[in-house]
Amino acid sequence: MNVSTRKFRFGGRESVVTFGRIEDAVGEESASGLVVCDANTQRFAGSFELAKVVLEAGEEHKNWKSIERILDTAVKLKLGRDSRIIGIGGGVVCDMAAFAASVFMRGCRVTLAPTTLLAMVDASIGGKTGIDFAGYKNLVGSFYPAERVHISVQTLLTLPERDYRSGLAEVIKHALLGAEDLLELLEKEQKRFIEREAGAVESSISRSLDIKGAFVERDFTEDGIRAHLNFGHTFAHALEAATGFGGFSHGEAVAWGMTRALAAGVVTGITDKAYAERVRQLLERYGYFTGALPKGVTVQSVMAAMTQDKKKRRGDLRFVLQRNCGDTLITALDEAVVREVLTTDQVSKIR
Ligand code: GLY
Repeated sequence: MNVSTRKFRFGGRESVVTFGRIEDAVGEESASGLVVCDANTQRFAGSFELAKVVLEAGEEHKNWKSIERILDTAVKLKLGRDSRIIGIGGGVVCDMAAFAASVFMRGCRVTLAPTTLLAMVDASIGGKTGIDFAGYKNLVGSFYPAERVHISVQTLLTLPERDYRSGLAEVIKHALLGAEDLLELLEKEQKRFIEREAGAVESSISRSLDIKGAFVERDFTEDGIRAHLNFGHTFAHALEAATGFGGFSHGEAVAWGMTRALAAGVVTGITDKAYAERVRQLLERYGYFTGALPKGVTVQSVMAAMTQDKKKRRGDLRFVLQRNCGDTLITALDEAVVREVLTTDQVSKIR
């Protein structure tokens, strides 16, 4: 697989993805700008001469206060629309750096250097920016693609195991959405992916970018097909909310959510049963929980979180289901079906 530069057009703006050393994240084009990082990623930003805003790490700091700190610094440095905000970090830093860039002087330049697998294959690509607000994740934000995304797989070597696997779940999701070749590779070469072998990691990132990029190029503002990228996420968000956003990493929740969405497809006669079982086995082999509900989590708490989500959207709760690999649809589901897949342990046990 080719891991060379990728050029996308998202909503009329060019977004270029390069691969290389983290030291090259700040290029000559960034003579005027500032670096945004957090306490965990500050070490990657050490060699850059630009001013740095070091945010506190964690989802709980994905808020206005952090955005104000970035904007205050931009004003103090007398940055202009031609200046560049460079976000170096995971999804939280990337989302906030890009959001600040989207509102500073109505939009300045932005480079993202994602340092987690999740941010490399998802958060940094496609222009969704934002902060959490009023208790809701990513409620305030904008669509503003990074002009440049710089990926350094060297940053993954020190990434904690759970964070790495969280990103791997999104890679698997991208394979299911449209790349039988990547799915087969993930099945056959599991050891190389688990051990973070550079070639395997780079090729899976590269293939993920192709898949996600194609969805976003077709539907930048998520009026239609981009929503397929939310496969597994209705169940995942409910699990994350039901467990206080502490028990499961986002990727672990998405992996579980995909098994529930496939189970719901089997129950309703939409999903090929052999395919659902194939995916469940793959996710299990990668160490994700694939049962009906993790211990200590109740059906009621997950259903309540879904109802809350439905209220927020002021409409039907929509689920992304699949007939087979690359064959995806969005539909509402009866509550009875949702209950059934939250109480039946394995896809293979469903009629
Ligand atoms: N994370 C899904 C999307 O970017 O649309």
